[in-house]
Amino acid sequence: MNNYNIALLPGDGIGEEVCMEAVKVLRKIESKYDVEFKITGGLIGGAAWPEYGNHFPEETKTLVAQSDAVLFGSVGGPVDAQFEPQWKDCEKNSILAIRKFIGASINLRPAPIFKELAHFCPLRPEIIGNTSFEILVIRELSGGIYFGDHSRPTPDTAFDSSSYDRATIEKMAKFAFQAAQNRNKTLHSIDKANVLETSRLWREVFEQEAKNWPEVKFHNLYVDNAVQQLVKWPKQFDVIACPNLFGDIISDLTSVFPGSLGMLGSASFGNKIHLYEPSGGSAPDLEGKNIANPIAQIYSAAMMLRHSFEMNDAADAIDNAIIKTIQAGFRTGDIYMPDMNETKLNCDEMGDKICEFI
Ligand code: IPM
Ligand code: MG
Repeated sequence: MNNYNIALLPGDGIGEEVCMEAVKVLRKIESKYDVEFKITGGLIGGAAWPEYGNHFPEETKTLVAQSDAVLFGSVGGPVDAQFEPQWKDCEKNSILAIRKFIGASINLRPAPIFKELAHFCPLRPEIIGNTSFEILVIRELSGGIYFGDHSRPTPDTAFDSSSYDRATIEKMAKFAFQAAQNRNKTLHSIDKANVLETSRLWREVFEQEAKNWPEVKFHNLYVDNAVQQLVKWPKQFDVIACPNLFGDIISDLTSVFPGSLGMLGSASFGNKIHLYEPSGGSAPDLEGKNIANPIAQIYSAAMMLRHSFEMNDAADAIDNAIIKTIQAGFRTGDIYMPDMNETKLNCDEMGDKICEFI
């Protein structure tokens, strides 16, 4: 029997309640497959603040370092207030800190578009179409402007520097081509090579790597053109590879296609330990009401099984159970449409329903 240590970091807002549903699903997987999960909870984000005066305390770092994978909920914390004096000298942006801690370099952000939920997509029906599909944004997570020098030498001048090296881009390119090869054999690489030197290096490396993947239809797109194309004709895309900042922006664009942020899981691959988190955020307005959509968290758990534990069958079983749940008309409030013969479920009932279908 395989044993895996999972660090469970629910964080803030709805994190706790949606994580409980993901744990329920993992327990269901244990009952059907030869596996045991040791799940240990830890504090992160605002939830860690009262006890530690820090958003990513040492104790949580130790827990993460000793785990085989991290299942992360969401963090709120002082996003707007983080430059106020009381936040000085402590870890406040825990998501950037934990990404750095595990050495996260490649980030998968799939946007699954269900035909059953197409009426929640802000694009016109004739654009989104009436078949289900998925766009996979692969975002580079360790370089670019996020981790360059940021400075404010005078009150009236500011600098953010961006850099990329060949090895980092090569790793991304190999991963992205392999993903495209395994899927629909279409890859779009996003850059701004008409202006940025880092983008010219990015494009050079991707074009070089393209030679090793003759079956993959490869396209370079400037980021400004890419956002136009995504809105005009999303179905031409399957795998999209982006540098860090463009990936942040493009993945927010694709995140609206499924109709709710509650449908989006993600994976961030570190040097050894990978992190899995929903894309939706802590949604403090929904906290404690048992009405949040746990699907994003459950998708993230399925990604953990697939990418950290090589449990493809179990991951497929979860993905299929989600599809069946949606097809059978079960909905949390964010994806519920009155008068459509659907059954509205609470957060915990949705977790139960998905378990039933596994
Ligand atoms: C994301 C978020 C983060 C990012 C923020 C919270 C720092 O927007 O995960 O996309 O920019 O990476
Ligand atoms: Mg973002």
